[in-house]
Amino acid sequence: MRIDVLTIFPAMFAGVCAEGILRIAREKRLLDVRVHDLRDWTHDAHRSVDDRPFGGGPGMVMKPEPVFEAVAAVEEEPPAPQRILLCPQGETFTQETAGELARAERLLLIAGHYEGFDERIRIGLACREISIGDYVLTGGEIPAMALIDTVVRLLPGVLGKEASLAEESFADPGAPGLEYPHYTRPREFRGMAVPDVLLSGNHAEIRRWREEQSRLRTELRRKAP
Ligand SMILES: C[S@@+](CC[C@H](N)C(=O)[O-])C[C@H]1O[C@@H](n2cnc3c(N)ncnc32)[C@H](O)[C@@H]1O
Repeated sequence: MRIDVLTIFPAMFAGVCAEGILRIAREKRLLDVRVHDLRDWTHDAHRSVDDRPFGGGPGMVMKPEPVFEAVAAVEEEPPAPQRILLCPQGETFTQETAGELARAERLLLIAGHYEGFDERIRIGLACREISIGDYVLTGGEIPAMALIDTVVRLLPGVLGKEASLAEESFADPGAPGLEYPHYTRPREFRGMAVPDVLLSGNHAEIRRWREEQSRLRTELRRKAP
């Protein structure tokens, strides 16, 4: 998968892309991330990407010209990407959305700042607008990184053979549930023991216990009382 990102803070992506699963995905050539500085498509001495809002009011607004020019330049090379605008007013990002995006050949993520985008960016570029939750961050970089990480770990071959994505929290879009609790060594830690069933070697019992724990957790943490 190829992912292009348009941002005014390209350096923010260096660490995230150089570590962990994203690094492995890039090394395996399953992921090609290209981060572009929106200021490269400005034409004034100050490399301005923002301006004051018409109608007055506080804050600045992302100008349309650099974003349109950047999108055109990045999309010169095929295939055409699925365009995504990171935006708190967009549809809420879920595991199901991540699964859908993981099937795309190419994504183009646009990270906003200040008061957000000039409305013509939303109208003219017909992007899918995605929010990572009902709260407001300073910019779209962290939401873009959250989206990239969530999508990339779903790409076939990225996680090791042992990884069981099917058992993870939210894996079943029809009935999104939470995963069961995990334990590792030592058997006892500060007075807290590993449940006996996990030490029993009885795989049918272990499976039943895990299913029950998963059901209880989901009910307790996700279902309204
Ligand atoms: C400070 S926010 C703008 C908020 C906007 N004035 C509003 O009230 O809806 C600046 C940028 O951060 C990004 N952003 C902030 N919160 C986000 C969220 N929850 N999900 C996705 N992107 C977000 C977007 O790219 C947005 O354009």
